[in-house]
Amino acid sequence: MENSRKAFTDFVDKAVAAASLLNRDELMFSYKGILYPVTICSPEAFKALESFEARSDDVILAAYPKSGTNWLSQILNDLIAISQKKTLTKESSGDAEKPQEFPYLEVGDPEKYERMMKLPSPRFMVTHLRPENLPTSIFKNKVKILLLVRNPKDVATSFFHFCNGIATLPSYETWDDFFTDFMSKKAAWGCYFEYLSEWNKYIDKENIMTITYEELKENPALGVKNIAAFFGITLTEEELQLVVERSSFQSMKKNSEKTHGSFGNVFFRKGGVRDWKNIFSEDQNEKMDKVFEEQVAGTKLGKKLKYDVYCKA
Ligand code: A3P
Repeated sequence: MENSRKAFTDFVDKAVAAASLLNRDELMFSYKGILYPVTICSPEAFKALESFEARSDDVILAAYPKSGTNWLSQILNDLIAISQKKTLTKESSGDAEKPQEFPYLEVGDPEKYERMMKLPSPRFMVTHLRPENLPTSIFKNKVKILLLVRNPKDVATSFFHFCNGIATLPSYETWDDFFTDFMSKKAAWGCYFEYLSEWNKYIDKENIMTITYEELKENPALGVKNIAAFFGITLTEEELQLVVERSSFQSMKKNSEKTHGSFGNVFFRKGGVRDWKNIFSEDQNEKMDKVFEEQVAGTKLGKKLKYDVYCKA
């Protein structure tokens, strides 16, 4: 973990430094109709990713940005460590020199995928990509994917604050401006609603498990238990409690400077449900309710989100 944390903070610091030299309108590029941050992604890397050879024992976390990706990464890293009989309380120091890759599959230089071939199993990776933009080997080799989804109003709220907290993404003078971009497919990694519609086509596959941010928040122990079972990892009651405690918002926020460097507070903001109530206008509520109804509500994934509970009440 120590190495991947260092890789994470170094990578983010470098990207932020590069972004500070760019104008707002230079921060994103379009690839296959979707916008991505130039400081961490590139068309060359996307091209190289197409031939990435996934392994059947890779562990993949898929989520639209701001859905709780860092939270679930913590849980999955701990579960993998437990499956390898590593103790969670003590940091391992044995492989301090081993280079680690930034865990986001689509983020990094084009040579990254060559280097990843040398990494031992199980490799853990995170992605914000839509399924049709993932390498086909992931589906061919039936890699297990944990798909994390969060209600769109809290995602948009979180995304707005994130854009204004980190220089790699264009900042916004007003929430209204951000809302307009979010609803018109101009957010990084594309349209939330299309993301859900595309992933909905895959959720009945045996190698995919879906979890919502809200259900994990309501019952973290049950969520962690189900995730462990999906990946075939057995846990003692004590281990389960430890994973839950180490991934609590309070604990992650407290450690965030160590794990996420100077942007810890930006990654771990409020960690709650229904913060959208503080920012959405009536008109914006109506607009989002309508789009959700038209594009996602009738799908399995849409129903899983319990929109009426988390986005209307
Ligand atoms: P908020 O901005 O609403 O607080 P991502 O990791 O995909 O970027 O998602 C970030 C969101 O997940 C932020 O939401 C963040 O606070 C929240 N989050 C991070 N760790 C969490 C945890 N352990 N428990 C609950 N929410 C968490």
